[in-house]
Amino acid sequence: MTILVTGGLGYIGSHTVTELLHNGFEVIIVDDLSNSERFILENIEKITGKKPIFYPFDLKRKELLTQLFDAHQIDGCINFAAFKAVGESQVKPLDYYENNLFSLINILQEFKSRNISNFIFSSSCTVYGQADEMPIDEHTPLKTPESSYGKTKQMGEEILKDFAQAYRKKVSLLRYFNPIGAHPTALLGELPIGIPNNLVPYVTQTASGIREKLNIWGNDYPTEDGTAVRDYIYVVDLARAHVAALKKLMAEQQDTVIDIYNLGTGKGSSVLEVVEAFETANDVKVPYQICERRAGDITIAYANADKAEKELGWKADTSLEEALRTTWEWQKYLESRTQ
Ligand code: UD1
Repeated sequence: MTILVTGGLGYIGSHTVTELLHNGFEVIIVDDLSNSERFILENIEKITGKKPIFYPFDLKRKELLTQLFDAHQIDGCINFAAFKAVGESQVKPLDYYENNLFSLINILQEFKSRNISNFIFSSSCTVYGQADEMPIDEHTPLKTPESSYGKTKQMGEEILKDFAQAYRKKVSLLRYFNPIGAHPTALLGELPIGIPNNLVPYVTQTASGIREKLNIWGNDYPTEDGTAVRDYIYVVDLARAHVAALKKLMAEQQDTVIDIYNLGTGKGSSVLEVVEAFETANDVKVPYQICERRAGDITIAYANADKAEKELGWKADTSLEEALRTTWEWQKYLESRTQ
């Protein structure tokens, strides 16, 4: 079976490619390198002993995509390729809609015209907004996300539901909570460009001295220690969920399948708990200061991931500390590369 992985050199994509190769799938990666680097491809080969076919192009280039589908027999797609910076999406909404949705539609057109099924979409818990009750399961009502980035995820889900219904296709919508950590070999991990927006890359860069202090965005939330709570899921656990979701889709007998899964650990951790876990796991200090809340942030979000466990036989079982230990190893690897 050959799987097209778009954004396959990115953070979650590269870990998933590795898991797919471990599970005997052939992989074709399309990645325009806008938020990834070529050495990741070599590192995937170091880990797996296999080199995926790689095409460096932008998925908005419809003619190149058609050529790719002409050249290869493809049995499914995992679509990671997307812009993902929440703040940037507020100032460049058109870029987000164009990039995230045109590329999705271009692939779906190929699937439609060539009679291919099995499509996995990277969605986000952002589609729930601030849910009224915790934990968040798949029946929790959706709220229109504040950011244009979040809206592209919600719209992507709607496009895929219509696609599955109208053309009798199998799709899986995976709603990620907060992915963290790096590959245990320290050869794959997150590569933030410039100043990181997300918590764990910022914590990591602070511990290594690249940033002076972590800014904790608010300690007046109605949570135990006043800082906001999220469900941090280890990226390799998350990657394994993709393989499980793909295998389930492929085994389904019906033509039309719309699977939806929350992918999280089921446990919430506050910002301060993440900082402490990082310090304990790595025996380093993370200086921080408390600042005003960040606009658009929610108070609390953690998953009920029982559906994924029951239907996919999958569970995120790596601890927060273990995940944060791999992050630190990855940071040391990155620093050794630049010396
Ligand atoms: C955000 C998006 C989510 C997206 C994810 C990945 C929303 C509501 N959430 O998640 O959809 O998939 O990014 O890009 O838009 N924090 C600090 N200091 C920092 C950085 C973060 O205190 O320097 C805090 C935040 O206030 C938050 C927590 O850490 O409480 C996690 O933040 P972050 O890693 O950015 O993820 P989310 O905002 O949960």
